[in-house]
Amino acid sequence: MLVKVEELSKEVAGFNSSVAEEVEQFRIRLLGKKGEITALLKEFRNVPVEQKKEFGQKINILKNAALEKIEALKIKAEETSAANHGLDLSMPASPFELGGRHPLSVVRNEIISIFNRIGFAVSEGPEIEDDWHNFTALNFPEEHPARDMQDTFFIDPETALRTHTSSVQVRVMENSTPPIRTISPGRLFRNEAISARAHCIFHQVEGLYIDKDVSFSDLKQTLLYFAKEMFGEKTKIRLRPSYFPFTEPSAEVDVSCQLCNGKGCNVCKHTGFLEIMGCGMVDPNVLENAGIDSKVYSGFAFGMGIERITMLKYQVNDLRHFFENDLRFLKQFKTAY
Ligand code: PHE
Repeated sequence: MLVKVEELSKEVAGFNSSVAEEVEQFRIRLLGKKGEITALLKEFRNVPVEQKKEFGQKINILKNAALEKIEALKIKAEETSAANHGLDLSMPASPFELGGRHPLSVVRNEIISIFNRIGFAVSEGPEIEDDWHNFTALNFPEEHPARDMQDTFFIDPETALRTHTSSVQVRVMENSTPPIRTISPGRLFRNEAISARAHCIFHQVEGLYIDKDVSFSDLKQTLLYFAKEMFGEKTKIRLRPSYFPFTEPSAEVDVSCQLCNGKGCNVCKHTGFLEIMGCGMVDPNVLENAGIDSKVYSGFAFGMGIERITMLKYQVNDLRHFFENDLRFLKQFKTAY
């Protein structure tokens, strides 16, 4: 047997080939299931005890030499084959172009992160919504003209595509106890003609804060914090009285125009301000509808369109760009978010 080991050792040392197939054949002949080295290893059992040490060492050396040789020849074979095909494996790889997020996702993530930092969690809900969560619980009585404020796609008289993500907040209020701090980003649907400023599908982030003693000044301070984080430290906000069925009092929120710093320009129609969202103190009826005691708790809510914020932040002048997926437009928004 020692003779056989010796013979094979010489053969391994002398073997050379740069053809992958030949190397593989060689491996099978020596180390395959029925290979010659494999057979020697099996026979090791029958070697007399006093020879086991010597034989064991030799066969191990042989086996390792064979493995090393085969590995080295395989690499060489690959390189030769690549070279034969005109490839140079030492060349640096060509740069891999990564995709980017859609601008609406970039801005949605930024809004979420701004509110996360002051303790708001994210909640989501269904896009196909029942009348209760989209309207009735939010203090839109049946037949009330406020239902016409948002042109609705109805599926049947009781079911519609949600017209705002306030519906998600009703679900959160129904299923949890205050304090509640949540924002609900999502897609919504309104039966509107498509133009540079309107679309029938768009996105919102709505926010809700409910606790004991929540006041209008908490709302103002939260919105000022948001505006500064989103549009820059110098940003000012302005609140104008407004109406929503689910908040009382209600307001529209404007931010100082980024382009002219509030001095007045074409973009802000010389007012110095741009409207970004609606807000207000949650109407006690809404709290009661969702099972929250309005004598103990109060809260504020706000809602903004992600398209609108994105248009202001990046000076996009036509909302339809967001839905056309033209790469020349999308490529401008590659970011780390
Ligand atoms: N739900 C309102 C809308 O879609 C926005 C809003 C939310 C206003 C919360 C006030 C408070 O227009």
